[in-house]
Amino acid sequence: MATTTLRELVTESAAQTEAAGERLARCLGRGDLVLLEGELGAGKTTLVRGLARGMGCRGEVMSPTFQLVRIYPGPVPLAHVDLYRVERTSELCELGLEDLLEDGAAVVEWGDRLEGFRTAWVVIEALDLNRRRLRLQEAPASWSW
Ligand SMILES: Nc1ncnc2c1ncn2[C@@H]1O[C@H](COP(=O)(O)OP(=O)(O)OP(=O)(O)O)[C@@H](O)[C@H]1O
Ligand SMILES: [Mg+2]
Repeated sequence: MATTTLRELVTESAAQTEAAGERLARCLGRGDLVLLEGELGAGKTTLVRGLARGMGCRGEVMSPTFQLVRIYPGPVPLAHVDLYRVERTSELCELGLEDLLEDGAAVVEWGDRLEGFRTAWVVIEALDLNRRRLRLQEAPASWSW
């Protein structure tokens, strides 16, 4: 891997981003919320796939574009939220994020649209076709890649 610091990591393939998610999952527990920021195709869903695997969750990880939220069952269930199509704040309320966080952890694509919640905030930046910079912008001190 080209660059690794505690808070910043450059991956060179989707598999590496997935593996980074798998490692980050060790930091995640019930009540934790991870917001993902990154352009279309940045690798948000890819990272979630790794998180779910690292948490031992079952189910195929796909962007919940038409469902708003998908829940992957496991020891600590992971709620996968995608706010791409959400325009009204009332829809955000319907999400019931607090309830989801009582049951498990949650990861939110287009999480920058969610105001007032912020446990951890990951920014994914495409450097070129296959390289992505993953940045733990805000996260508990013990979290790392
Ligand atoms: N280093 C990398 N990390 C992650 N994905 C990569 C990387 N290099 C190439 N890719 C490709 O980029 C795409 C990322 O797609 P993904 O669905 O994860 O993005 P997304 O941010 O969820 O997009 P959307 O905004 O549409 O939800 C995949 O096709 C993946 O194979
Ligand atoms: Mg996605």
